[in-house]
Parts: sequence; structure tokens; C-alpha cells
Amino acid sequence: EQIEKNGYDHFMLKEIYEQPDAITDTYRGRMLVDQGIVRMAGVDDNISKFLNARRILIVACGTSWHAGLVAEYIFEDFARIPVEVEYASEFRYRNPVIYRDDVVIAISQSGETADTMAAIKLAKEKGAFVFGVCNVVGSSISRETHAGAYTHAGPEIGVASTKAFTTQITVLSLIALKLAKEKGTISNSDFHLYLRELELIPNKIKEALQSNEHITDVARKYKDASNFLYLGRGFNFPVALEGALKLKEISYIHAEGYPAAEMKHGPIALIDEMMPVVVIATRKGHYEKVISNIQEIKSRKGKIIGIVTKGDKEVRELADYVIEVPETVEAFTPLLTTIPLQLLSYHIALMLDKNVDQPRNLAKSVTVE
Ligand code: G6P
Repeated sequence: EQIEKNGYDHFMLKEIYEQPDAITDTYRGRMLVDQGIVRMAGVDDNISKFLNARRILIVACGTSWHAGLVAEYIFEDFARIPVEVEYASEFRYRNPVIYRDDVVIAISQSGETADTMAAIKLAKEKGAFVFGVCNVVGSSISRETHAGAYTHAGPEIGVASTKAFTTQITVLSLIALKLAKEKGTISNSDFHLYLRELELIPNKIKEALQSNEHITDVARKYKDASNFLYLGRGFNFPVALEGALKLKEISYIHAEGYPAAEMKHGPIALIDEMMPVVVIATRKGHYEKVISNIQEIKSRKGKIIGIVTKGDKEVRELADYVIEVPETVEAFTPLLTTIPLQLLSYHIALMLDKNVDQPRNLAKSVTVE
């Protein structure tokens, strides 16, 4: 096992650090930046299904569901296709409306999650085209779906999902870009810009990982809190959910993720000097609005940990701590803002002496319904 951990103390940390390479593996051979081509056999062979889709329905559980939420923003923004994201367990039990011209995308790291599998079978019965985004090659879901694309993240051992999440977003971004190009919903120059930005993401993640020591200090400061709030808007709202889930999973600290603007409809009542609030406040994406959310937290004495764009000054003035990530286009910020949140929960769990790789009560793949 020590050999498999490759010098890291835990699989989770190893997998966090593998993300630059994992993402490169995900887009290798699929994204030809100079030629301006995205090719992916599972999509290319079924391109008319995608282009004629009335809607895209995404079904998934856990972290994969969060990747689906990010994809909703990306598909709608790039390809102008309406997207619904469903918990597989809710979808399958509620007699959902499924059209024959819906494309259902099932996202699953393990490819074995029972509820996701059941949702796929239901969608197939109703005549929809079902596309899988799985990590484990040859898994049940990859066999049950009509077509699919693997994330190629390599084995993920830590129960708390990390590199599966960012590689799922990468695959789904490539699909969205391909459809957007085919449909003409983004300009050629934007298409090229996005490809080039995606190509830069692995190096930008490496840069984000350099904050590890600073994040350890932040973890030390707040590890004894009983509650955390995570806020984000737009593309980074799902990242807030994912950040809170990571903390819950491995540190057993209660954490809630919320869309920043919804804070005033409830969570703001919880804020006092005991409450650390992690706010994703990158410069692109409703920045001014997030600043005003931060001011509201500060006036109630909440502790603010800002996830900001490199060089940011405004949030730094208001926050107790800031953690910087490099700049990128708004749609791809989740690939960067996720990194410090993974590290923060890792260090807090470690300081609290929890079993980071195998948290209590959780399983890597949930094959019960
Ligand atoms: C379990 C794991 C999570 C994962 C979820 C969905 O709860 O602990 O990390 O996100 O299942 O798993 P899947 O393999 O379908 O992505």
C-alpha cells in the first residue's frame, strides 16, 4: 500500500496532486487545440442524437451529481441545450417525464452505483439515448449505457472523490464545446479560446496546489469549528456544495453549501463569530455581488475564507484569509476553485485525526439502493 501511495501519506492527497496529469489524460487525443477539433468516439458516433436533443438529463449521485451541476451551467452556456440534473435516486422513484429525444447522461466514477444504474435502465425503457461518463473501464454502467466517454483519471482509492470530479467536468466541457461548435452557439474565436484555456488548466492546478502550506494554516485555525458554510454563485455554486460535502465526508464537521445569494433567505441567521464561511469569489462571475455577500457576513462577525483570483485586493481587505487560484475563463473556474477546498478538508480531517481515506459509514461505491 505504501508503494501505491507513491510517497504520499494518503490516497486522497495523492489523488489531489494527480489532478494535473489526470486532466491531461482526459483530454489527450480528444482535444486537438491547433486544429480546433474536439473528437470523442462516443459523441461523434451519435452526434445527431446530441444535436437533436430536446433536453439533456443528467443523473448521478454524490460528487458526480455535483459535476453534473457544473455541467448544467456549461452546457446551457456553451451549447444552449436545456439541462436538468437529477439525483438518480429521486429520478427513478418519481415517475419522471422522459422523452425519446432526451439525451440522458449518467455520471459515475465507479460505474457501479445502484441508483444511477436503475435510473439508466428506466431512461432506456422510455426510449431515451443514454450516455455514460465513467472512470472505471468495463464497469456495469459503462456496459449498460448506449455509448460513453471514460474520464481516464486512473484508479481513485480515497473514498472522498477528488480527481474523478475534475476529470468528469473536463469530459463534459469537451462535449459541451463540441456541441456548441456544431450548433454554432459559440463563435469560432471563443471555441479556440476555450480549447486553449482548457489546455492550460493542468498547469494552473499545479499553481493552485502551491497554496498547500497556506491552506494548512487556515485548516489549523478553523479545525475546531462545529459548522462551516460554503458559498458560491453561478458556475461555482456547485463547487460550494462539493466543498461542503468534502468536509462532511472526512472531517465529520457539519457543513452546508449554498448559492451565495440565497444566504439571506436562511443561512445568514446562523452567522456569528463562531462560523467560518468559505466564499468562492473569483473575479469573473458576479464578483461585485459576492463582495456584498462578504460584507453581510463580516457585519455579523462571521469568519471569511475567500477563494479568490490571483492578485485580488478587494476580498483580501474584507476576509480573514484568502486563498488564490490562477485566472481562467469563468466556465472553467470550478476546475481551479475546487482544489483549495479539497486540500482544506484534507488538512482539517488529518488534524482531527480522522481516517481520511476510509471515513466511517461511507463506501467508495454504493451498490445498495
Ligand atoms: C459514494 C462515494 C462518493 C461518490 C458517490 C457516487 O457515496 O463515497 O465519493 O461521489 O458514491 O459514486 P459514483 O461512483 O457513482 O460516482
